[in-house]
Amino acid sequence: MSTLVKGGRVVTADDDRLADVLVEGDVVVEVAHEIDAAADRVIDATGMYVLPGGVDPHTHMEMPFGGTTTCDDFTSGTVAAAFGGTTTIIDFCIQQRGQSFADALATWHEKLTRCPPLVDVGFHLAVTDFEGGGGADALRELPAHGVSSIKLFMAYKDALMVDDRTLFRTMQVAAQTGALVMVHAENGDVIDVLIGEALAAGNTDPVWHGRTRPVETEAEATQRAIHLARVAGCRLYVVHVSCAPALEAVARARAAGWDVRGETCTHYLFVDDTALAKPDFEGAKYVYTPPPRRPEDQEALWEGLADATLSVVSSDHCAFRWADQKAIGRDDFSKIPNGAPTIEHRLHMLHHHGVRGGRFAMSRLVELFSTEPARLFGLHPRKGTIAVGSDADLVVFDPEREQTIAAARHHSRVDYNVFEGSTVRGAPVLVMARGQVVVEGDQLVGSPRGEFLSRAGSHAAHV
Ligand code: URP
Ligand code: ZN
Ligand code: ZN
Repeated sequence: MSTLVKGGRVVTADDDRLADVLVEGDVVVEVAHEIDAAADRVIDATGMYVLPGGVDPHTHMEMPFGGTTTCDDFTSGTVAAAFGGTTTIIDFCIQQRGQSFADALATWHEKLTRCPPLVDVGFHLAVTDFEGGGGADALRELPAHGVSSIKLFMAYKDALMVDDRTLFRTMQVAAQTGALVMVHAENGDVIDVLIGEALAAGNTDPVWHGRTRPVETEAEATQRAIHLARVAGCRLYVVHVSCAPALEAVARARAAGWDVRGETCTHYLFVDDTALAKPDFEGAKYVYTPPPRRPEDQEALWEGLADATLSVVSSDHCAFRWADQKAIGRDDFSKIPNGAPTIEHRLHMLHHHGVRGGRFAMSRLVELFSTEPARLFGLHPRKGTIAVGSDADLVVFDPEREQTIAAARHHSRVDYNVFEGSTVRGAPVLVMARGQVVVEGDQLVGSPRGEFLSRAGSHAAHV
C-alpha cells in the first residue's frame, strides 16, 4: 500500500516547508517539494500541517494503583492517543514487590497482547524492589528486553516509593548500561506525615491533596535526585515537573552542564490549584500527583518550555473514572486514586495555547510533543520526525479546525475530561500509524496493529 500526502506544510523539529510525503508500506520513502509518483491513495493536505506523530513517553494503561486499576487498557488508551495525534506511547511497567524484573515485563506484555494497541508501544520499567527484582545483574539485562529506561518513585509511601539506597543502586546500574533514569520526585516521607496530620485534624476533602504536597517537597526531591544521579554518573529525566522551585533545580543542573532533563505534562499548564477546591467532590477529578499548582508555577513552566529548561510535554495519562474510582476517596482524600486522563488533548492544547498563544513556534511544539521524547528514549529517527526511512507516523493537522473538548466526545473510557469546555482551534484531521490511516475526521478507521518497540537507548554506555 502506498500513500502520497500532497501539498502540506511539513513541520519537524528542524524544518518547516511545503512538501509532499510518499509512504510505502510502513515507512516514508520520499519527502520532496513536488512528488509526481503514482500511489494507491492520495491525500490532499493543502492548508494543513503535516507533523510527525506524537510520542508520549509517560502513560499508565491498565495499571493497578490505589486499590483499583486505570480504566484504559492498551486498546482504548491508544485509540484515544491516536485521536490526539499520538502514534507512539511508552508505558510504565510496574514491578510488584517480590516480583522479578523479567516477570514484571511479562505481565505488561500480557496486557499488550490481550488488548492490542492501535499504535506502537514501548515500556519503561518502574523498579519498586531492587533485590526482589533480581538485583543489579537482572537490571543489567533490561536492554536485552528492549527496555532502556528505568523509573523510580520517590513518593507513594508503602506502595511504589523506594528509599535512597534503591534509588542510588539503580542509578549506578544505569550508569553502567546507559539506561535513562526517570524519577517521580517528591519527598514521600514528609508528605506521608503531612497527610497523617491533615486526616487527624478531620481534613478529608480533595483540596487537602494539594495542601499536603507543598512545592518544597517536590523541589527537595528533585534536587536530591539530581545530586544522586551526579554521584552515580547516570543520565536523569525528571517526570512531571510541576512547579517553579523544582524547575529551578533542573535549570541549575542544566546550566552546570549535567545530563538532566525535565518533563512537564499538559494539565500542569492549564489546571491550577483552585480546581481541587471545586465543591461536591468535583475536586477529585484533579487529584493527580504532583497536584495542580499556582498560576505563577504555570507561568514558569511555559517559560521553561520556551527556553528549553524543559524537554518534553507528556500526558501522564492515568485514567480513573470519577463516578466509581475516584469515589473510593470520598471520605478520605488520601484514598482517591491519583491520576489525570489527558492522552487525547496534548496536541490540541499545546497548539492552541502554545503556538497560537505566541509562546513558541510550531517546530518547537513538534520537538516537545514528538522529536525530543523520541530522541531521549532511543526511538529517533524511526519515530519523532518525517524523513526517508522513518516510520510513516503522520498527523495531518488543520490549524483552523475548532473543537470544544468534552468527555462526551473523547475516546478514553474515563467519564470526565480535565479540559471540559475548552474551545481550541487546530486539530488532527487524519492520523497515520506506520502507514495505516487509523483516524480520519471523527472516525476510527484503522485496526490495532501496534507493535512492541524494542528500544536500544540513545546513549552508549559509559562504564
Ligand atoms: O497522579 C499521577 N501522576 N498518577 C500516576 C502515577 C504517577 O505518579 O505518575
Ligand atoms: Zn509520578
Ligand atoms: Zn505517571
